[in-house]
Amino acid sequence: MTDAKPAAHTFNDEDSNTSSNPHFDDVLFARMSRRSLFARGVGMAGAAGALGLVGCATATQGVGAGAAVNSLGFKAVAKNTADQVTVPEGYTAQVIYALGDPLAAGVSSYKNDGSDADFGRRAGDHHDGMEWFGLDAGGKPSRTFNSRGLLAINHEATTDEKLTSFFVHSDGGKAALPRHPAEVDKELMIHGLSVVEVQADGKRWSYKPQSTFNRRVTPMTQALLHGPARGSEHMVTKFSTDGTLCRGTLNNCGTGKTPWGTFVSGEENWFGYFFRDAKDDERRGKNDKQVQALNRYGRKAGAASRHGWESAGTDDRFVRWNNGALAGVAKDDYRNEMNTYGYVVEMDAYDTQQPIRKRTGLGRFAHESVAFAVPAAGQPIVAYMGDDARGEYIYKFVSEAMWDPKDAEPANRLAAGDKYLDKGTLFAARFKGDGTGEWVELSMNNPAIANSSYFEFKSNADVAIFTRLAADAVGATKMDRPEWGGVNPRNGEVYITLTNNSNRTAATVDAVNPRVYTDLKAGKEQKGNVNGHIVRMADASPAGSQFKWDIYVFASEAKADKSTVNLSNLTDAQDMSSPDGLVFSAATGICWIQTDDGAYTDETNCMMMAAVPGKVGDGGKKTVTHALPNGATTSVETRMGKVPGETELKRFLVGPKGAEITGWCETPDGRAIFVNIQHPGENTKMADLGNPARYESQWPANAGYGAGNRPRSATIVITKNDGGVIGS
Ligand code: FEO
Ligand code: CA
Ligand code: CA
Repeated sequence: MTDAKPAAHTFNDEDSNTSSNPHFDDVLFARMSRRSLFARGVGMAGAAGALGLVGCATATQGVGAGAAVNSLGFKAVAKNTADQVTVPEGYTAQVIYALGDPLAAGVSSYKNDGSDADFGRRAGDHHDGMEWFGLDAGGKPSRTFNSRGLLAINHEATTDEKLTSFFVHSDGGKAALPRHPAEVDKELMIHGLSVVEVQADGKRWSYKPQSTFNRRVTPMTQALLHGPARGSEHMVTKFSTDGTLCRGTLNNCGTGKTPWGTFVSGEENWFGYFFRDAKDDERRGKNDKQVQALNRYGRKAGAASRHGWESAGTDDRFVRWNNGALAGVAKDDYRNEMNTYGYVVEMDAYDTQQPIRKRTGLGRFAHESVAFAVPAAGQPIVAYMGDDARGEYIYKFVSEAMWDPKDAEPANRLAAGDKYLDKGTLFAARFKGDGTGEWVELSMNNPAIANSSYFEFKSNADVAIFTRLAADAVGATKMDRPEWGGVNPRNGEVYITLTNNSNRTAATVDAVNPRVYTDLKAGKEQKGNVNGHIVRMADASPAGSQFKWDIYVFASEAKADKSTVNLSNLTDAQDMSSPDGLVFSAATGICWIQTDDGAYTDETNCMMMAAVPGKVGDGGKKTVTHALPNGATTSVETRMGKVPGETELKRFLVGPKGAEITGWCETPDGRAIFVNIQHPGENTKMADLGNPARYESQWPANAGYGAGNRPRSATIVITKNDGGVIGS
């Protein structure tokens, strides 16, 4: 990933930084919580209880009265490298929905030998973010029913060697150009989204292969462009000469659930799927500002695409992945096709017919999750987002429309999405060393953007499409790979995982990204912020520009040095590496933290932690000292939360080999949670495809699920054997 090189600029404080905010205190949060609680009371079920639980990203599901967990009751799971899912004593994990599972009548069961086809009617690959949409016994949407619902799931990517997604091809596929059309078709169709109905029959859960709610959205599904970039000259393609339509969604990572009851999904590493030849910069010429943007977004002329889909033939479904300026004008080629990816996509999980909508106002970057603040009547809708690449930014969207609690149950959910997500303002976070920060407006109202000498912004459409350049232009803070965000239902604070950053050096540490060190993995040195951390922010008001921040936890190996690495003093029951997924339970208030790690995997597979965090400012200052290459030292002062005890943070799950743990949702009563196991066995060599004994993983077949031996991404459901609330 290339770092931005913004031109020198000064920020005009008058634009996005209102003067000192008199409400910057905990009293405000108490007030906010009461107001939010009141808002929730209008048309929403459930009492929040004495703890002031006010809902979260999934607030409109309702807070489970009496289910709040303040002390984690289970026995921590030990780190391990077994090829299985390990959960605490007294809990059961069950596989319910894996790559290739049929989603419609007449689709054969998955043979899992590379011969299966028809992926437009099967589960996609690499299950990632996931949200619950309840159904009542009669099949109507329900916020309270606990034994029937829909899971809306991202299918982020595929397990590859070189160009080919080898586990879905009989012989592994052709890992060279040109790609085979039939292999490309299969690879295209295992990306995207799925909606699948699940139900509980007593204690057992299963998915319904023939449910009429089941749906697949793929990179070939027509989508509507919404928000400021709709109709922009930079969205014009041969497919949509007026720049209002596009095809599909791709590399969908984190998710969110809107206060009006729809599913939102972030498009993450979409740029890697495109190709433009080595002459494309020259062909576009100096006057095409997109050359700068293409390079900033990681699409260099001549660089190979992830799969070589553009090479499979002259049909439009292949040609569209070549985003070179190949014809005379944009409406005759796909030079702008990549501009139609990189957004938050909204889908009504209950409606298989309505097209998905790309909400361009939430910016274009490597999106992860969308964490909504608790909506308050008469106040804007607020959503927090991370851009996952080294040195990228944290963003916040604030709607122009004010929240009307009646929209919690709208007649047309996507029309409510139009109302709240098509008009609004995007901000990027700038952190200060004193534990405060500000949200900097990214719009033509900000002279640092309107008058930028770094990039030519002509309109807010340009800000929506070239968002990273806008955040560069205002000097937002370069973070250690922002992944998921979650809003704490107890106090409204937002938590963002910063998964790791191999580019962080002693010369570039700052207060909010303060660690750089060397760790050994199987004897090999790894450098930078190897294990990641979780920052949390307390907005003075959800729509405002001022915040306070601290580091909730520094991920680390327990044995690492406590003055430079294991600053949070994590024990063997708590240590982790590369936090990624992060979701607060609306039922219990527990913060679930999931890892996607490559640093600690010599000692343990990826995992999921449960946490009951405090609040910003409950710890103190901490000075971290680093050695410089010249032998001198430098130190940086950071702000760190209270060191968590083992009843406040501990390991709940360890996954199978080669898998990341991601995606989390729950039934409204908090008695069943759904989690995704992504890419088990991802380090398997294609040359070993005929020799299952050499697969890195054989999960979930080795857990008794499905045919064949090839590893498959899958959804699991976890219940407590006594029927209790998860984590209690
Ligand atoms: Fe798809 Fe950044 O995780
Ligand atoms: Ca290590
Ligand atoms: Ca992720």
